[in-house]
Order: sequence, then structure tokens, then C-alpha cells
Amino acid sequence: MSATQDLVTRRADAVANGVATRGIYAARAENAELWDVDGKRFIDFAAGIAVNNTGHRHPKVMAAVAAQAEAFTHTCFHVAPYEGYVSLAERLNAATPGDFAKKSMMVTTGAEAVENAVKMARAYTGRSGVIAFSGAFHGRTLMGMALCGKVNPYKKAFGAMPPEVLHAPFPNAFHGVSVQDSLNVLENMFRSSIDPERVAAMIIEPVQGEGGFVIAPPEFLKAIRALCDEHGIVLIADEVQAGIARTGKMFAFDHAGVAADLVTMAKGLAGGFPLSAVTGRAEIVDAAPAGGIGGTYAGNPLAVAASHAVLDVIAEENLCDRATEIGEKINARLTELASRQGMEAIGDVRGLGA
Ligand SMILES: Cc1ncc(COP(=O)(O)O)c(C=O)c1O
Repeated sequence: MSATQDLVTRRADAVANGVATRGIYAARAENAELWDVDGKRFIDFAAGIAVNNTGHRHPKVMAAVAAQAEAFTHTCFHVAPYEGYVSLAERLNAATPGDFAKKSMMVTTGAEAVENAVKMARAYTGRSGVIAFSGAFHGRTLMGMALCGKVNPYKKAFGAMPPEVLHAPFPNAFHGVSVQDSLNVLENMFRSSIDPERVAAMIIEPVQGEGGFVIAPPEFLKAIRALCDEHGIVLIADEVQAGIARTGKMFAFDHAGVAADLVTMAKGLAGGFPLSAVTGRAEIVDAAPAGGIGGTYAGNPLAVAASHAVLDVIAEENLCDRATEIGEKINARLTELASRQGMEAIGDVRGLGA
């Protein structure tokens, strides 16, 4: 029996079925490559689901984490804060789109960042409604799953969702949903389902990941920015997957030339260490009362050290340009492939950067 087969059997006996897994049991990884427990070598296109934007085990990230481990690994930022967290907040405030005063907070997963962004928007507006989009993925926590625009498997079997979470169609030219179609539904939603004065936030992925790598047209992001401004709604950019250089810009909203009020990020932020953040307008971030946001492991020192190194590497190695280059190469190859006879199964070739 191979080492993989053995693990597949043990996993079936010991691990929850709901945690879906693929069959490659990792033994080690380096840059873009992964070796399994049987010594098979793979090119890792999955990158831990859009996490290893700087590759597996980038030497600078490894060195930063090792140095931090020598100093301390956990104090809890609420109890004994540390400089790395503060300076990372300063860097994220400067790096995210929007020329206004910003503040940041750190947590651990993408879902937690989304939860906290919604909490801030609710505290700031005093409203409770949240609008998300079809096909969206925002995480597996209670609010996160409610915001997901896909029932199966994210909401199936998990009971009642929080109230006042509504979905509008995400524009998708390939499936015949135009920008105007989406805007019409939003307008109708404000007439028939919820008073816009009750809506705290609108949350959108600038490029849907789970939804099928669908790019939000820039004119749509501009239109919902205007709609949010008109009704005093907080616009949340969920950049958990699209952010941190993956699309050829540091944040995918940069492609549209508009800024959200709050940005959620995770995945690529710390090169494989668990870290997420919410960055946004200082007055919205500060609406959450002291002690109302945060967590025991939130902004873990090792992950924060990794994140500083990741941001350095992105700048030093021009990884935004590299993402554009990779995207152009893959796009050209797939477009050529799609044009061949007998390749009708490829309906659309799309993407933004890598
Ligand atoms: C856009 C987006 N938001 C939120 C999440 C949730 O992140 P996590 O799995 O770290 O909770 C994901 C994860 O894939 C995501 O792609």
C-alpha cells in the first residue's frame, strides 16, 4: 500500500467528512512545487487556495518567522502589544486604495475579517442589513456563510441564516447577466425587499474566486460605489482572494480606480501563515467599541513577521508585474487552446493577472 493510500484510509476513519480533501498528501514544498508522501512531484497551481503568492517557503519569509520565534511567539495583542502589528497596520493603511485616513485590525482567517468588517459597518451605521452577490464566497462562519451566494455546500444543512442578508446577481457576461441587469435588481430590492436606509453594508469580491473567477466590470464597481454613497451604505471590498498582488495590482479594486470603505484581506497576506486584516476609513473602523473586536490569536506575531516579509518581497521582486506576465501567458495559451477544433468544452477564457 502506498503512503497516500494509507493516509486516505486513516483520514476516512479519523477526520470529519465535511472537511473535503483532495488526494495529494503533502510531504514538502518549495516555491511553486509540491512533493507528496510517495515522492511524486507536482507544480502547485492551487497554492494553498491563492495563498502562496510569494511561493512556498520564500527564504525571506522563513527568516523573518525564525527571527520572530527567537523573540516571542505569542503574547496576545490585547495583553502585551508589539511593534510588528502596529507597523503592519501602518503599511496596510498606506497600501490599500483610497486617499483618506485609515486604520486596521488583524485577525486570523478570511471569514473572521469578513465578520469584523460587517460588525464595524453595523456599529458605524446603526443599521443591520447586508447585501452580497450571487456566486459570492465570504467564508464558513455564521455571517460568512449567510453572505455566500451559493447554497450547496455552504449553507445546506446549517439551518436559519441571520436576517436581512440579501443577494443581488453578480454581473456575468458569459452567463448573460449585464451590469444593468444587476443594477436593476438592486434598485428593485430597495423598492420591494429592504429600505436602503436599513442597509449597513454591501460586500463584493472584485474578482469572484469560488464563483468562477468572474471579474466585476469596473463600471459596476463604480456604480455600486455611487449607490453606497447615495444611501450611506458602507462598501466592503472582499480582497481575501483577489488581493495582495495576485491580479497584477496590490488590490483588485485598483483596476477600477475606486476605493471601498473597508477592505478585507487574508490568504496571500502572510505567505502561508494564518493572518487576515480589515483596513478602512478610520471613523468606520473605530466605530467598534473597545474590546468588541480582536481575539486571543488575532495578529499572531509569527504571522505578522511573515506578512512584513511578504510585503517586502512583493515590492523587491515586482510581483504585481510578474502576476500580469503570468496571466498574459496563461490567457494566450488557453485562448489558443479554446480556438482549436473539438474544444467547445472551453466556453470562456478569463482572468485578471495570475
Ligand atoms: C473572497 C473570500 N472571502 C473569504 C474567504 C474565507 O477565508 P477563510 O477560508 O480564510 O476563512 C475566502 C476563502 O476562500 C475568500 O475567497
